[in-house]
Amino acid sequence: MRRVLFFLTIVIFLLTSCGGTPTPLATPAVPSSTAASAPASTPESQPALYTDPSQPIETRVQDLLSRMTLEEKIGQMTQVEKNSIQPADVTKYFIGSVLSGGGGSPDGNNTVAGWYGMVNGYQQAALQTRLGIPMIYGVDAVHGHGNLKGATIFSQQIGLGAAHNPELVEAIGRATAEEMLATGVPWNFAPVVAVPQDIRWGRTYESYAENTELVTTLSVAYLKGMQTPTGVTTPGQSLFALATPKHFLGDGGTAWGTSIQNIFDHPYQLDQGDMQVDEAAVRALYLPPYKAAVDAGAMSIMVSFSSWNGTKMHAQKYLLTDVLKGELGFDGFLVSDWQAIDQISSNYKTAVVTSINAGLDMVMVPYDYVTFIKTLKQAVDKGDVPIARIDDAVRRILTAKFALGLFENPMPDPAWQATVRSDEHLALARDAVRQSLVLLKNEGGVLPLAKDTPLIYVAGAAADDIGRQCGGWTIDWQGKEGAITPGTTILEGIEAAVSAAAKVEYKKLGQFEGMADIGIAVIGEKPYTEGVGDEATLALSATDVNTLNNLRPHVARLIVVIVSGRPLVLTDQLLQMDALVAAWLPGTEGQGVADVLFGDFAFTGKLPYSWPRADSQLPFDFATLPTDGCDAPLFPYGYGLDAKDASPVILDCAND
Ligand code: BGC
Ligand code: BGC
Repeated sequence: MRRVLFFLTIVIFLLTSCGGTPTPLATPAVPSSTAASAPASTPESQPALYTDPSQPIETRVQDLLSRMTLEEKIGQMTQVEKNSIQPADVTKYFIGSVLSGGGGSPDGNNTVAGWYGMVNGYQQAALQTRLGIPMIYGVDAVHGHGNLKGATIFSQQIGLGAAHNPELVEAIGRATAEEMLATGVPWNFAPVVAVPQDIRWGRTYESYAENTELVTTLSVAYLKGMQTPTGVTTPGQSLFALATPKHFLGDGGTAWGTSIQNIFDHPYQLDQGDMQVDEAAVRALYLPPYKAAVDAGAMSIMVSFSSWNGTKMHAQKYLLTDVLKGELGFDGFLVSDWQAIDQISSNYKTAVVTSINAGLDMVMVPYDYVTFIKTLKQAVDKGDVPIARIDDAVRRILTAKFALGLFENPMPDPAWQATVRSDEHLALARDAVRQSLVLLKNEGGVLPLAKDTPLIYVAGAAADDIGRQCGGWTIDWQGKEGAITPGTTILEGIEAAVSAAAKVEYKKLGQFEGMADIGIAVIGEKPYTEGVGDEATLALSATDVNTLNNLRPHVARLIVVIVSGRPLVLTDQLLQMDALVAAWLPGTEGQGVADVLFGDFAFTGKLPYSWPRADSQLPFDFATLPTDGCDAPLFPYGYGLDAKDASPVILDCAND
């Protein structure tokens, strides 16, 4: 449905913009200087304190707010997707924020320069408004700047959970911020601070772990890396770039079958569903990462599509306002998820009024901003939304913009452009891959491999595929198979690691002849995200099972590398394998896998999620989970061998 709307919007947009001058998508309702528009209380002749960087931010915000009309305020609360708006309308409607959705890049010019020019076009339009308030551009750089072709793509968060190293995550937060700033973008909708309780969820890989404490530690590290400023050029600047812990609250805690969303003919099960647990459990499991993030200086948080006991999060005044802003003292701004307020009610006015009164500060509309602005304005005029609530929302948004130094430097220094895929960033990404690998089985110490192994057969659909290594949120919203962006595949990494004496052969389906000393099968999941990745079964695909069956008789020892967004059910295949390595979604630097397989670095990763023996165990009930026997996970949370460790004894259980 949203896809259809999206395309309709594009068509209408193309039709209306043919004449050259950008035309609004629907009848414009604002701005006008009629009596209905609340006048600003500070006359333009008063010296503008807000433009003076030596003033404290509160003073600047207060001064600016007192000069703004209602239209200007509502504009600040409006976030529009870039394909749905031309720069001229950013000026006309005082738009406060523009975003790229998943895969959103400058048309036909997905380069650093293309991005910088696109963002600058919107920024210059914002600066042309009466008060010259800069807009803030946002993206989902969830594992590096994934929409940008040629960016450094890091391991998805699940791999960083396995690496369990806060310094590493902090460095990745910083590097990601640098590559965003290179393209003009100061705002990231990351990190995901969910604590997934059911790995059948399509966003499991976007989250660090099933464990609240680990999620909390790594989320704070990421936030600090992204936000801590260096080389500050404006006195009040306290943010390098803006991070966004998401999705508040309990996105990883929904019950199977409670979602009614359906995209690409894939009925969602968990994503955007309902969390059905009591408040004590909500507080214990899901709130701590937010508390820590707020204490560490989070200034923007995204609200979750999901519900709690039947009420949409975007309508949860108690959680958004009383708990997050009140109790936890969050003084940043709350941004909605993509068109999420529309799910509160089929009556748009009710949806707008309910969400803003619940405490939402900025709405990711993302298409029909004219209707949103008109609806909110009418609601304020009628007294359905108090002006004090609007002022509070705008104060929060402006505070973050001042903290970023946007008023002094509306566009980042182009010098950051040298950091995109820099040697330093690639080395960091490769190191993250090494640290993320989890060794699950190593029969007879087959790993590490000798670099002069005479013959190695490599097989599997994930062995030579950058798109598979990267997963969702890479070039496309759902990700894509194939050579979608520059990088090193795992196969290329293996070829580069072995000595001249070794021979490496690759056949995707493993249909080799003869015998090799070593076989390496790289198998796993195709890219996906959100509810499109909600799956009832996590069994290996038939293709992967066939690949293993094809390869096994032709190799003396079989190493299996799993490239996936979560643990997969492979109990039946485990006996075939001499070694098993979970590589998660390692990103563009596949060389890191070979670095460890061939012993240049040790295995240090630990499982961030319990690994199921069978689909029937899911979701795990962590409160009663046995630690041994056939009801226990195949491999428990925190498990991970060193190459010197003996392999575990695998129980023989019927697994249905
Ligand atoms: C957008 C994504 C968004 C999704 C929501 C897609 O069309 O590109 O950014 O998250 O819709 O369903
Ligand atoms: C996702 C968010 C994302 C937004 C913008 C939504 O569909 O749930 O995580 O930030 O789209 O792309």
